[in-house]
Amino acid sequence: MKVGVIGLGYVGLPLAAAIQKKTDYQVVGFDLSEKKIEKIKNRICPIDDHQCEQDLKEITLQVSASDEILAGCDIFIICVPTPVLDDYTPDLQPVKNAVSTVAKHLQKGNYVVIESTINPGVCDEVVIPMLEEATHLIAGRDFDVAHCPERINPGDPHWNVYNIPRNIGSTRPESTRFLADFYRRFVDAEINEMPDLKSTEATKIIENTFRDINIAFSNELAKSFDVLGIDILTVIKGASNKPFAFMPHYPGCGVGGHCIPVDPYYLIERASKSGFDHKFLKIAREINNSMPAYTIELLANALNEYAKPIKSTPIGLLGLSYKANVGDLRESPALKIMQILQQKGADLIVFDPYFPEMSNASSLEEILEKSFAIIIATDHSAFRTINSELLAKHNVKIVIDGKNCLNKEEIRASGIYYKGIGR
Ligand SMILES: NC(=O)c1ccc[n+]([C@@H]2O[C@H](COP(=O)([O-])OP(=O)(O)OC[C@H]3O[C@@H](n4cnc5c(N)ncnc54)[C@H](O)[C@@H]3O)[C@@H](O)[C@H]2O)c1
Repeated sequence: MKVGVIGLGYVGLPLAAAIQKKTDYQVVGFDLSEKKIEKIKNRICPIDDHQCEQDLKEITLQVSASDEILAGCDIFIICVPTPVLDDYTPDLQPVKNAVSTVAKHLQKGNYVVIESTINPGVCDEVVIPMLEEATHLIAGRDFDVAHCPERINPGDPHWNVYNIPRNIGSTRPESTRFLADFYRRFVDAEINEMPDLKSTEATKIIENTFRDINIAFSNELAKSFDVLGIDILTVIKGASNKPFAFMPHYPGCGVGGHCIPVDPYYLIERASKSGFDHKFLKIAREINNSMPAYTIELLANALNEYAKPIKSTPIGLLGLSYKANVGDLRESPALKIMQILQQKGADLIVFDPYFPEMSNASSLEEILEKSFAIIIATDHSAFRTINSELLAKHNVKIVIDGKNCLNKEEIRASGIYYKGIGR
């Protein structure tokens, strides 16, 4: 058996490495990025994934930026991006391009698995018609198409490609069984066999939409509690000791990453084409998208106390990544905060240890030293060490804690202005 993984990013690379490590299948990887391919060939992991870094040291992956490497594959696994365009409409072009590549090599008896996140209907309405037209083979008879959505959480010290349960659905029950057994060879967790493609596609989308909606609820509560003078973290902690039916979600300066702020648009768009208006999902997106501007509003209110405008005031932006302790900028709210501060003419100082090339300060000490006010946009571990002593030492007057990760009471007690999101 020969397995080809198309797209060697956060999803595809750990997957290819896991199959190679745990099975006796021949594994090949194809990616358009020659830079990435060169790194992998030199056993340098191009993504922030500790497990994958380790795996690349132990195995040798055959990879190429030429799709010829996919010739003769029995199983093709597509792991390419599914972004949105500037107007938030889904961009299926990378998936379509990958499907065209697979079509060049597809033969009778092969399997095509989509791991990329896609809305209900993409396999039936886009992938299968493209493959059938290009090859004159029939899906469900000559070859099979499956969806096995990935749930990987980059930077997570516990959950990885080897232990996250999966769902899989395909064009035929016997193919679903065959592919589920294939995944069971390297995933030590439940592989749930789903009855069809559409419900498998929908499962992944609702997982991420569920998070988006709940975070939006927390963000709306944060704005409300700011008016009411209630600390949202105290309230969430209180509600969380209910042993059933409450799941804490936390407010912040925005929602980033390749999944949560993107995937809901795929469902919104597809449902809209069939005449259904996802009002709730749209409002959740609107609320979460409003948080970077809300964070700046909090900064402006704070500066007002010191009779200062944003323009020309030294403002330190701590963190660019969309989440703590990873170097990943995709859809990061910090970038939106940075853009607004630039538009308003702030004297902007930026520091993110994961992005020295985008920072104009080279250490935490330096950014604090130069800033009148700071905004914490990413809760990297190093930033969590900030306390009143450090702030006072560098004469920082205002802290806007976009991640609610500092000790509010301790900082306020020292006379420094502290404002979190909803606290
Ligand atoms: N990153 C995550 O945490 C995560 C988690 C679960 C699901 N997903 C989903 O998995 C999919 C992939 O995400 P990712 O984070 O791995 O993306 P990524 O950007 O890290 O990697 C995608 C790779 O695909 C390559 N690529 C693009 N078009 C290609 C083509 N036509 N042929 C070959 N290679 C191509 C790119 O060069 C890139 O290296 C997306 O649908 C995403 O929503 C991501």
